[in-house]
Amino acid sequence: MNTCKQEIITIFDTTLRDGEQSPGASMDIEEKIAIALQLEKLGVDVIEAGFAASSTGDFESISQIAKNVEKSTVCSLSRCVESDILRAKDSLKYAKKPRIHLFLATSPIHMEYKLKKKPKEVLELAIQSILRAREFCDDIQFSCEDACRSEISFLQEISLAAIESGAKTLNMPDTVGYRLPHEIGEIIEQLHKVVQDKAVLSVHCHNDLGQAVSNSIYGAMKGARQIECTINGLGERAGNCALEEVVMILKTRKDIFKQYGGLDTRINTKEIYKTSKLIAEITGIRPQPNKAIVGKNAFSHESGIHQDGILKHRETYEIMKPSDIGIYDNENLVLGKHSGRAAFKDKIMQLGFTLNDEELHVAFNRFKNICDQKKIVYDEDISAIVSEEITHIPQIYVLESLQCSTASNGAHLAALSVRKNNGEVIRDCALGNGAVDSILRAIERVCQVSGKLLDYKVESITSGKDAMADVMIKVVFEGTNNPVIGHGKDLDTLYATAKAYIQALNSFERMKELLQDKKDLRYGGV
Ligand code: KIV
Ligand code: ZN
Repeated sequence: MNTCKQEIITIFDTTLRDGEQSPGASMDIEEKIAIALQLEKLGVDVIEAGFAASSTGDFESISQIAKNVEKSTVCSLSRCVESDILRAKDSLKYAKKPRIHLFLATSPIHMEYKLKKKPKEVLELAIQSILRAREFCDDIQFSCEDACRSEISFLQEISLAAIESGAKTLNMPDTVGYRLPHEIGEIIEQLHKVVQDKAVLSVHCHNDLGQAVSNSIYGAMKGARQIECTINGLGERAGNCALEEVVMILKTRKDIFKQYGGLDTRINTKEIYKTSKLIAEITGIRPQPNKAIVGKNAFSHESGIHQDGILKHRETYEIMKPSDIGIYDNENLVLGKHSGRAAFKDKIMQLGFTLNDEELHVAFNRFKNICDQKKIVYDEDISAIVSEEITHIPQIYVLESLQCSTASNGAHLAALSVRKNNGEVIRDCALGNGAVDSILRAIERVCQVSGKLLDYKVESITSGKDAMADVMIKVVFEGTNNPVIGHGKDLDTLYATAKAYIQALNSFERMKELLQDKKDLRYGGV
């Protein structure tokens, strides 16, 4: 019989709200829905889907997420402003478990210079806003913005008033990432003395000094029962507390957390890697190779001594198993040339995808093509093909063919044909300074657009000379300031490049409609 007591930490994911404030990390509605569904699969308790009053696009994506998510609580951020509260409430109309998240600054510097309000006025505004939000929603979270530079006595006073007005969760952000772990511990301990079990205390730590994860863990050790975090530690400036790190700390160091009530989470850690890859793919922001838990090198041992030790006994140099976060060995060879459609369908289900008949047909044909060209087909190859096929971005342009001629010392030529969604096929060619330049120019001629390339990355999906390339392109097309991202995957890197640029163009077309009314308020005013 397991008699170990367990205190479950609520995992509040803000990748879609605070994470989206990472420079260049904007996502469109379909992408946000895909992320929310994956977060639900990961076992996140609360998904902060956006800030409803900030833009029509945010409002719409919160509503869609609220409609689609079944198990996780869906949360909408709101300033302590009547019109924001109403937008938040409306955005959550279809949520099975809605939460309104109100925030108001409580530090002397924010109250004086940003809000231009006295503490008494801030207290009153918090009370009135919580009471108003409670008229629509039972689950209210109140955040003291810049809590960790606020007077502890004021935090205690406003926390008790917030509870009295109906708030169930009190969040204490280290908004500027200033504090060290023991200081956060002290703040939470002081608050816990007065709040006790009348509300859930929460930590929300930014990473400006690289302490976000340690600070959050320390907060939990001193009584916080909600941790706010993002996948891959995405977020404004140096980012937020990384979900995968706090979760794996709690799982790996159970020996320590036993003394703190057996802290744990409901996260299905086997979904961590997949979630991290999805976010990296959509935002174009990949974790650095040495990033804890999800970095490319997090589980690879270069040194001979380490490799030898691992082979003899895994735990000599490994404190977690790659499979704990859903990474399986490359030797996990899957299907080959002779595999049939049924085996392929079975495999993609095992990998967690659901395809309709048409998507399955296209993916299977691509798989067969790849089998003709590549000796070993890994799970990762199959995931790459399938994820490319199930894009929900309308395919206005599709690449039909590409021909490149390159010369080491001269102009490069790309000739291509693109099919438009009205059936028209357009062909053209262009010269450029290098293969990539000529391909992008040819696409621009064919599709009559002009773009400024912000980023271009090529990664191999698996190891081996015959590995597929994953090309990521970030571009700003003429007519907006918003960058879009495109991915292309193929055995031929140049073909993958053309596909990535065309995918970015399709996202741009999709985004154009949404951008028309996107006025971005973010954190101005109250
Ligand atoms: O960092 C912060 O203070 C925030 C609040 C809006 C919760 O993100
Ligand atoms: Zn924040």
